[in-house]
Amino acid sequence: MNIKGQHHHTIWVNEQNPNLIQAFDQRWFPHQIEVFDMSTSDAAAYAIKEMVVRGAPLIGVTAAYGMYLACIEAKEKDRPKEYIAEVATKLNATRPTAVNLQWALNEMLNAVHSISDPDQRVDAALKRANEIKEEDITICNHIGKHGLNLIEEIAERKQGEPVQILTHCNAGWLATIDWGTATSPVYQAHEKGIPVHVWVDETRPRNQGASLTAFELNEQGVPHTLINDNTGGHLMQHGLVDLVIVGTDRTTRNGDVANKIGTYLKALAAHDNQIPFYVALPSSTIDWTIKDGLKEIPIETRDEDEVKYIQGFVDGSVKSVLICPESTPAVNYGFDVTPAKYVTGLITERGICEASEKGLLGLFPEKA
Ligand code: MRU
Repeated sequence: MNIKGQHHHTIWVNEQNPNLIQAFDQRWFPHQIEVFDMSTSDAAAYAIKEMVVRGAPLIGVTAAYGMYLACIEAKEKDRPKEYIAEVATKLNATRPTAVNLQWALNEMLNAVHSISDPDQRVDAALKRANEIKEEDITICNHIGKHGLNLIEEIAERKQGEPVQILTHCNAGWLATIDWGTATSPVYQAHEKGIPVHVWVDETRPRNQGASLTAFELNEQGVPHTLINDNTGGHLMQHGLVDLVIVGTDRTTRNGDVANKIGTYLKALAAHDNQIPFYVALPSSTIDWTIKDGLKEIPIETRDEDEVKYIQGFVDGSVKSVLICPESTPAVNYGFDVTPAKYVTGLITERGICEASEKGLLGLFPEKA
């Protein structure tokens, strides 16, 4: 998607130096647009852990390039295969909830495990990382095409009035490579001239809605309004939301959905007001090994300072300010789980299905 009218991906291989991976540094958006350099696997691990890059699909792609950098580093190691396995373990520990991370690491390990020649291993790693990136773009585009049908149906009923869509956190192109998951149907509807308007949850504590989703919708010219996290229920009660679409960091075989903290409350409000609540996801976000999201999905706990301080743009630079007594303890759960019973449907690259094992296996029979 575009920044200042120019098309970009969130992460790329430097054109002059293929050993350098670069990504937008999302910690300072929308105030400062900076690029973060990764020339070591440690830098890739840092980028994921510190949320330079974030969002389940982009975490996966960054980990894939981290493994490519590990293969370059392994050329200098006595026990290269062990070294590559160690880096995979290190990358896997950076963020626990988004299953795309494990998925991408397994893809990379499978791509290189049988190769002993160091140069061939580096080539194979770069090839697979590039493929994972390109596949993500195609998948998000397909998610958009399927989700577009939902928006078109509502638009027909609304006879020219904008379709009102609520989203939480950032499941936009900045969480992927291009298009986004939850935002892909919105961008495709907007491109087709269907009137849409997005309610953007600010998404405390890190405000990915305010700083990232609002930024990207603004750059694409999609009408949107920022709301604080407590407003969604009120809007739904007053008929101001037609559809909720969110992303996910891990979805179980049964259709339980882990997503940014606060998603569950939006699902409850949508359920109470009979508003369709859809979750958009690439199949790399489905954890086929687990069924019960509440019991089995690990929920990341982050630094309490993310709750106690709030970041903003003051006097020309990005600053943090304390919003509570310094000694007040805080807790910072990154994600919550929305049980499948509150999810109207899952929008995947293969189509839309019921949030259930039966629904998912209908689209992905090879996982039976
Ligand atoms: O903590 P984050 O910013 O990585 O959380 C991101 C989300 O919760 C997204 O909604 C999710 O990863 C889906 S992204 C397509």
